[in-house]
Amino acid sequence: MPRVLHLLGLAAALVSAELAIATPLDGADNRIPINMTRQERNHLLAEMRTFLQGLYNIFNALARNDMKAVAVEARPLGKVLHHMPAQMRERLPLAYVELSLGLHEVFDVIARDAEAKADPSLTLSQLAEALAYCSGCHDTYRLEVAPARGAR
Ligand code: HEC
Repeated sequence: MPRVLHLLGLAAALVSAELAIATPLDGADNRIPINMTRQERNHLLAEMRTFLQGLYNIFNALARNDMKAVAVEARPLGKVLHHMPAQMRERLPLAYVELSLGLHEVFDVIARDAEAKADPSLTLSQLAEALAYCSGCHDTYRLEVAPARGAR
């Protein structure tokens, strides 16, 4: 198993069977498909871009040694899943939700510690942990657009 997955802790224990999937670079995609409507997919991908933008902002704040800004940028990333429509959340695989919740928790801890401890190297190691969640999920799942219920 790739080293990065070793960092996943509890979430990995819950989903280790699924995460054991290798990611070949030969064009094959063996990841587990998650079916959703186009609209749901757009929603989820927009959230993903929020994560990437958020990381960009956090790294910039870290580079300025502005730990207050790190906290301000990290805090909303701990709540991204809460903005997801309930009916969409309910249809996600449990392991997927566990990974999301694990990632949210890391961002909560990043925000809390940035304020309380203001230790950039601690933040960096926590960011590495967050990235392990990003990778763990991306290595395991892909989205597949299914026609909306009731649509032809
Ligand atoms: C619980 C699962 C999960 C986690 C955790 C996760 N992602 Fe994603 N992300 C996905 C899925 C699924 C896709 C769609 C992949 C596909 O269909 O090929 C995706 C796609 C993306 C995309 C592409 C967006 C687009 O517009 O096409 C970006 C960027 C991204 N994720 C960033 C991140 C970052 C950064 C993190 C960590 C901070 C993260 N994701 C964590 C599941 C996750």
